[in-house]
Amino acid sequence: MPGRLSDKTAIITGAGQGIGAAIAQRFAEEGARVVIAEINPTTGAAVADALLRQGHRAHFVQTDVADAGSVEAMVAETVRHFGAPQVLVNNAGINVFDDPLHLTDSAWQRCFSVDLLGAWHGCRAVLPHLLAEGNGSIVNIASVHAFQIIPHTFPYPVAKHGLLGMTRALAIEYAAQGVRVNAICPGWILTQINVDYWNSFPDPAAERARTEARQPMQRVGSVDEVAWPAVFLASDEASFVTGATLVVDGGKSLQFDG
Ligand SMILES: NC(=O)c1ccc[n+]([C@@H]2O[C@H](COP(=O)([O-])OP(=O)(O)OC[C@H]3O[C@@H](n4cnc5c(N)ncnc54)[C@H](O)[C@@H]3O)[C@@H](O)[C@H]2O)c1
Repeated sequence: MPGRLSDKTAIITGAGQGIGAAIAQRFAEEGARVVIAEINPTTGAAVADALLRQGHRAHFVQTDVADAGSVEAMVAETVRHFGAPQVLVNNAGINVFDDPLHLTDSAWQRCFSVDLLGAWHGCRAVLPHLLAEGNGSIVNIASVHAFQIIPHTFPYPVAKHGLLGMTRALAIEYAAQGVRVNAICPGWILTQINVDYWNSFPDPAAERARTEARQPMQRVGSVDEVAWPAVFLASDEASFVTGATLVVDGGKSLQFDG
């Protein structure tokens, strides 16, 4: 039986670990030709090698999404290696959390250059290919921070709000030409970034338990629980879904904590 993405070439940014690596794994299992567009050469190559060893089609291209030239070169390499892409997942992201009045200009710049401008670089580089085919899907990995605010996390939520805005603007701009643009907003997902956060407390296990107890499902999500929704949005199963925000947070953002 053909996979759900068997006719697609998909670029996934930041796929060297965490949510991006899980998306690469699930996409490859669903038959996609997968480009790992990752800044870290060790993790990026390791993910691609693991997929190749499993018999999937994968290619690592070292990419800094903050650098427009690097992203353009990665898309050109994708076209050379696999042909024109049909899917882009803008997953690369960094946490920059501060009090607004302590934030330096360079930290603001670092956050926006990856979390918002980086996603735009990807969109701008792949859109001509998607439009030429009249068929394509862009999936932006935003966050619950794209519509909720946690104090002292500035300016990350500003960039993620912008990413939702860009998702909606591009969805409308290109809806008539067969290109869909959607966002996934994960809540607490078990990745290294959150393990590091728990490890910053004197009792990491207790802090993790405290986080889990605050979730409606009494647990955090797995990377696969973000990857499967990404498979759906990338696939033709979602052919009438564009400009949508798929919240993947176990219900947390609906819960009133007062
Ligand atoms: N983990 C969560 O709980 C959570 C929640 C909401 C949203 N998100 C979002 O999901 C995405 C992935 O998060 P994660 O937890 O897997 O993070 P992660 O830090 O584990 O992985 C991010 C990957 O992106 C890569 N990367 C960073 N800067 C890059 C750049 N300039 N160019 C290319 N690659 C770059 C990193 O090397 C890393 O491999 C991010 O956009 C993040 O904001 C995560």
